[in-house]
Parts: sequence; structure tokens; C-alpha cells
Amino acid sequence: MKVDVLLGLQWGDEGKGKIVDVLTPEYNVITRFQGGPNAGHTLEFDNYKHVLHTIPSGIFHDTINVIGNGVVIDPVILKQEVEKLKGRGVTVKNKLYISKKAHLILPSHKMLDAAQESLKGAGKIGSTLKGIGPTYTDKVSRNGLRVGDISTDDFMKKYNCLKDMHKNMLQKSDVDNESFPDGTKFSEYEKLWFEGIEEIKNLRSIDSEYYINSCLNEGKSVLAEGAQGTMLDIDFGSYPFVTSSNTICAGACTGLGVAPTTIGKVFGIFKAYCTRVGSGPFPTELFDETGETMRKIGREFGATTGRPRRCGWLDLPALKYSVMLNGVTDLIMMKADVLNSFETIKVCTHYNYKGKIIDYVPYDINSSEIIPVYEELKGWNHDLTGIESYDDMPSELVNYINFIEKKMNVPVNIVSIGPDRTQTIIKKDLFIS
Ligand code: GDP
Ligand code: IMO
Ligand code: MG
Repeated sequence: MKVDVLLGLQWGDEGKGKIVDVLTPEYNVITRFQGGPNAGHTLEFDNYKHVLHTIPSGIFHDTINVIGNGVVIDPVILKQEVEKLKGRGVTVKNKLYISKKAHLILPSHKMLDAAQESLKGAGKIGSTLKGIGPTYTDKVSRNGLRVGDISTDDFMKKYNCLKDMHKNMLQKSDVDNESFPDGTKFSEYEKLWFEGIEEIKNLRSIDSEYYINSCLNEGKSVLAEGAQGTMLDIDFGSYPFVTSSNTICAGACTGLGVAPTTIGKVFGIFKAYCTRVGSGPFPTELFDETGETMRKIGREFGATTGRPRRCGWLDLPALKYSVMLNGVTDLIMMKADVLNSFETIKVCTHYNYKGKIIDYVPYDINSSEIIPVYEELKGWNHDLTGIESYDDMPSELVNYINFIEKKMNVPVNIVSIGPDRTQTIIKKDLFIS
């Protein structure tokens, strides 16, 4: 069997959580491979909305969910997620496994995140301040603490050693290192953190690379759920305005311990328009009423931080770049319904970069000299409620999809027309091979 991968092609928040939940019945195992609680994946069903940060989006089904080695975990947030699920009648004990090699986000990593952002001043990344960057930094500089360390005799010694190192670094900055920007005291958070560690002890820590590979050998199907999006990838995103992990398909291999030859379908998910939260370049961003309309109708406010998302038209040069980097086999278009009331829809097909018309993402993506070149298509101007198949779609929506498919050379096999599980149109033969 193969590992199918579902990942974001834009700047995150494409709707990954919703579609993973929808596709879960097709799979035996759902697994996250990178990122951490900077992610906010929203699931809606039965008039009920749930946001997941660390736990894979297959948790509402009878499926095994694995937090892979490439993920960074804040025990405080993980415990809150487990408790919230319990409140909804979902017991994770027998269906949530955690890689022993996943790294832990310490309270002092969160402190460092805040200090580093504050030092950047106007050039700040707009981080979610969940400690992601400092935790991955410690992983790469070989200082990190991992889930598997929790059960070792010298865990406290390792924890204190790393915390002291961070405190030394913090003393050199002028930020208050006794409390977080939201006023929470460090000591209070640390107490919660150790309660979270106790929760992790109650969950199943495994050698997830062996587990996932043995699942494949036994003929079980695996879906890997990406976090963030390709344009936030540490190598290929709009650096330095990116997150600190490889969000692209290659990240699934290192973040799970599976060989490149095991990768099957690559589902690339994008919104029918674009959004971005945090700082950094966004060539098609709209600062006018149209952008405001997208934000309002699309409820474009961050699932993790509540920040308003920046909105703009679909950016095909960036989408094509993402399709290339990930080897996307199937496209998934989200939030088509948000454009229901638009008479016309613009699509950026090229950039005017320093006077030259190009269709690729230039190295200097932060340049203010990238001006989008648009084509305008007729909108469907039609409520999509109740549409259940491709055949029932208004012709303008079909044209919009065909236009994108032609430019990407990849089929759009799923279209989402609302936040609920049921508001999803899937091509009939998608899972018949
Ligand atoms: P993720 O991080 O990629 O999982 O996406 P988020 O959950 O952060 O953001 C997607 C938002 O769009 C959530 O509020 C979803 O409930 C919502 N959503 C998902 N699909 C659709 C859709 O087709 N239409 C509308 N209107 N909302 C959607
Ligand atoms: P999901 O999985 C959207 C953005 C932050 C910031 C930058 C770096 O829900 O799609 P970090 O906290 O990683 O240091 O922030 O990346 N960012 C996201 N934007 N969706 C996300 O996750 C994001 N995770 C991080 O806003 O600009
Ligand atoms: Mg999100």
C-alpha cells in the first residue's frame, strides 16, 4: 500500500482539516507529519464545529491517528485537545499514537518565540507564537527534547538544562522572561506543561516509523495530513516569512519515516481565492471592498489566533509552483461558495516582474515589483447549496475549474461548497483504481 498525502498549496488554512475528515473513511491510518499547534484545522458536522491543532483530523472516526516524528508538540495544548474531545464523547486512548521521536515545545521555547518576534520589530514574521521556530531550531542544533525522553530517568535534568540555556538567551533580550505577552506567568504555564507531560504518559508512544511501514506492508492505507501550506515551506516558501518545517510532500517522508517510493496520491488543496495570515508577500492581496467581502463571507479569521486573514484573488503562478514542488496528482478546490455572489472573478495568470511578464515565482518574492496580471472570468452568481455532483454545477463554475485544470495540468477532483462535511463534491471514481 501507499501513503497518500494531503497538503496545502497556498499560505495555509485551505481547509485541510475538513477534507481529511471527509476522506478518513477511505483510510486505516491518518497521520500528521510536520508543524505543531501553529496549525488550526476546522471540522464541521452535525451543527458542530471543532478545531484541532496537534491531533490528526481523522480522530472523529474509528481510525488510528498518528502524530509523526516530524511534528512538534506542546503538552499543554495536546492535553487541552484531548480533554475537549473527551467532552464531545471522543476517547482518544486507543486510537491516538504519538511518535517517540516527536519534539517537545517547552514553555521557554514559547518565550523565545515572543522575544525573537519582538526583536524583529517591523520585520516580524507574524508568528502564531506557539514556540514552533525555537523548537525546530533546537531539533536541528541537536539540543531538543523528544517524547521518548519523558520516560527516561534523567528527563528532569534534560528539561532543566534546556530551560536554563533558554533563560540565558532570554536574559540577553529586553523582554520580560517571567510572563508571556498575554500576561500568563511562566511558572503557571510550566505547571500546566508538566500536567501535559503526565497526559502524554497516558497515551501510546510508539516507534511510528516502524508502525507506519508495517501498516503499509499489511495492506493498510495511510493518509498523511499536512499543516500550513507550500508557500510557508521553510525552503520554498516566501522566506523569511515562513514556518520552520518542510510543509511540502517531501516533508511527509522525513516526518513519518517512509520512503519516497511509498508515496501514492498527492492531494493538493487550495481555496478558490487566496488568504494569508501573518506578515509577508501576497501579490494578489486586495485592500478594497472585494477583499473585505471575501473575508466576511468566507469567515476569514485565523482558527488558531483569531487574527483577520488577508484576502485576494487566486494566484496561478504560485499555485503552479506548489503543484510542481509537491507532484500533485489531484487538486481539491475549497470555498467555491464564498464567490457565489461575484459577478466576475479575477485570476492572476502571470506576474509583471520588473517590466517582464513571467509565469513563475521569482527568487525575490518579497519584491514590491511583482504586479499580478489578471484574466477576468464570468462568475456563477448562483447559490451552490444542494449541489451534489459535477453534473449539477453551474456552467461558469465548470469553466472556472476547467480554466484552473488547464493551467495546472492536474484535475480538480474534489470541490468544497461549504464548511460542513456534507458540502463536498467528489468525482465519482476517485477511489476506484
Ligand atoms: P486548515 O488549516 O487548512 O484545516 O483550514 P482552517 O480550518 O484553518 O480554515 C478553513 C476555514 O474554512 C474553516 O473555518 C472551515 O470551516 C472553512 N471551510 C472549509 N471548507 C469550506 C467551504 O467549502 N466553504 C466555506 N464557506 N467554508 C469552508
Ligand atoms: P494551518 O495548518 C496559516 C503562519 C503564521 C506566520 C508564519 C510563521 O492551520 O494551515 P509560526 O507560528 O509557524 O512561527 O508562524 O506562518 N502560519 C500559518 N498560517 N495556517 C497555518 O496552519 C499556519 N501556521 C503558521 O501566521 O505568518
Ligand atoms: Mg488553519
